[in-house]
Amino acid sequence: MRKKIVAGNWKMNMTLADGEALVEEIMNKSPELDDNKQVIFCTPFTHLMLIDDTITELSKPNFFLGAQNCNNNTSGAYTGEISISMLEEVGVDSVIIGHSERRQYYAESNEFLKSKVDALVENDLQVIFCCGESLEIREANTQNEFVAKQLEESLFHLDAAQMLNNVVIAYEPIWAIGTGKTATTAQAQEMHSYIRSLIAIKYNNEIAQEISILYGGSCNATNAKELFACEDVDGGLIGGAALKADTFLPIIEAMF
Ligand code: 13P
Repeated sequence: MRKKIVAGNWKMNMTLADGEALVEEIMNKSPELDDNKQVIFCTPFTHLMLIDDTITELSKPNFFLGAQNCNNNTSGAYTGEISISMLEEVGVDSVIIGHSERRQYYAESNEFLKSKVDALVENDLQVIFCCGESLEIREANTQNEFVAKQLEESLFHLDAAQMLNNVVIAYEPIWAIGTGKTATTAQAQEMHSYIRSLIAIKYNNEIAQEISILYGGSCNATNAKELFACEDVDGGLIGGAALKADTFLPIIEAMF
């Protein structure tokens, strides 16, 4: 059975003190997570060590630590960058790769993202691979081709075991990110089912059924339950609503 996952992408938000208090409140108030459910806090780099300590101290199963980016090289002269071994040293379990903000503001191409995917899989970390189209592409009704190309060029070179063990996919339509304009359940289900069909064609149906596909883009306390009820939506990658316990906790509860 594939896992349900709720990951909070804090982006470039939260002080250390606020981040620590947020994780404490969420973990204290969250229902117990069985092994088919995960909550991942994807914090800024500077918060990772502290939040890892907090998660470890509270010691509730199936809460994990995530980063929002990594470098594709092992080490060396890459000023301002963070390596995967550095992330592992501070307890990171998962890394978000290919977020549309990184594609857009830092010109990260499918080919470049492929090298990050490879580096993460080599180090046996979980990749939260983001894909999703702009409004222009949605209006031209070419979103399927666009998302298929993102997956084919960055992810589908992995072998079956790597896909199964290391990959979570997050579908985040750019027009829904931070806009308050959520995809309808029909739009989300349609794309998630399409992504799953691509995995089935490239690998096989068994693998397609095991890979968690998260929805992201104005997912909140009010709409999470109906989005997660869609057959192929296995949870969410949450931005704004991940920054407060009273909006993030109902999203965690929507997994149940
Ligand atoms: P919002 O939930 O703020 O729309 O952001 C979604 C997102 O980009 C998560 O990675």
